[in-house]
Amino acid sequence: MRGAGAADDLRRLAEALEGRAPEEVLAAAAARHPGRIALACSFGPEDCLLVDVIARARLPVDVFTLDTGYLFPETYQLWRDLEARYGLTIRAERPAAPPADAAAPPPWEVDADGCCDLRKVRPLRSALSRLGAWVTGIRRDQTPERANARAVEWDGRFGLEKVNPLTGWTSQQVWDHLRSQGVPVNPLHARGYPSIGCAPCTSPVRPGEDPRAGRWRGSEKRECGLHLRPQSGKT
Ligand code: ADX
Repeated sequence: MRGAGAADDLRRLAEALEGRAPEEVLAAAAARHPGRIALACSFGPEDCLLVDVIARARLPVDVFTLDTGYLFPETYQLWRDLEARYGLTIRAERPAAPPADAAAPPPWEVDADGCCDLRKVRPLRSALSRLGAWVTGIRRDQTPERANARAVEWDGRFGLEKVNPLTGWTSQQVWDHLRSQGVPVNPLHARGYPSIGCAPCTSPVRPGEDPRAGRWRGSEKRECGLHLRPQSGKT
């Protein structure tokens, strides 16, 4: 259990870091958690930007990805491209469960929440149990659940600090940075996929649609479960 003093300290730090450049937020977080901080990289535009910042500023922040086994081939290629470009290792965290039986009904069609839980949330929980802080690429304007995200905050769900260096950024700002630095990105973005998760649950969006409309299309689901807050009542 954390004390009120620790919560106040973190709130003050979040206020101090609000609006600061991602490298400053990351450097402050890395100094608080030497050897115990890592970026969760989904290979989305925000995470490619953070890999670029971490590598160029030589920040002591580890990088891992949750490899569900169902990522797009383009995403697996981007993984290799980023490692080659920046000379770093993006570690794989994999589910304990084997891939789904090809003869059975696809698990994401039977129970999408259960599938995300097994292949993303549980491996994340295991990875985070070894850390003092995790870094994500979430932005406040992505979903209502993310609207109150702060640069640093306590993640009560997983029991460690959560660092969100891009909370106040717009998608346009992210793309301006990626282009100006020549950062490798997923070629699927140019083919109508602004937000990319697992291949079976991601479809392209039409012009004018919400950028996340292609995630779990046809269902109410909008989050895989990594970023839900405990007080939301959802798991
Ligand atoms: S999701 O909840 O809908 O899947 P989204 O794709 O927006 O999340 O990604 C938000 C942040 O969650 C990413 O910036 C990244 O930090 C983390 N994340 C999502 N998917 C993964 C993944 N497969 N591996 C590692 N981190 C991930």
